[in-house]
Amino acid sequence: LERTFSIIKPDATRRNLTGKIVAKFEDAGLRVVASKRIQMTLAQAQAFYGVHSERPFFGELCEFMISEPVVVQVLEGEGAIAKNREVMGATNPSDAAAGTIRAEFAESVGENSVHGSDAPETAAEEIAFFFSGLELVG
Ligand code: GTP
Ligand code: MG
Repeated sequence: LERTFSIIKPDATRRNLTGKIVAKFEDAGLRVVASKRIQMTLAQAQAFYGVHSERPFFGELCEFMISEPVVVQVLEGEGAIAKNREVMGATNPSDAAAGTIRAEFAESVGENSVHGSDAPETAAEEIAFFFSGLELVG
């Protein structure tokens, strides 16, 4: 089974939406095989979003991600990477399909409630960035 990495972002944890978001994952057939609530440091956020370091919103994005706790998770299932991105919906909530997490919960293109890995290589990197092998319980 494939694994992907997810973050429930500060706009969602602040509004007590963690359970509702996890329910969407589970309803889609994704199993939570690791989960923890953390508050990222600025250095961690900058490293995690390193691929976006030249984008104009990089500073804003990192400040947002450290503003409050987040819930980092590993989700497992058949086609987990694509399935998770389908459940999340488009980056900008105004483009997100009805019923998706971002359509229902996201506040803006920046404060969009969830992150999900976009490919097998990034999923493996992102999982290893936040979790040790011992924390993954299939
Ligand atoms: P992730 O799952 O978070 O990677 O989202 P994504 O793959 O749908 O979007 P992308 O990788 O293009 O951008 C990463 C994150 O940067 C987004 O989820 C947003 O939180 C943020 N972001 C993207 N575009 C903008 C923008 O125009 N303004 C701001 N403030 N943030 C943005
Ligand atoms: Mg992305």
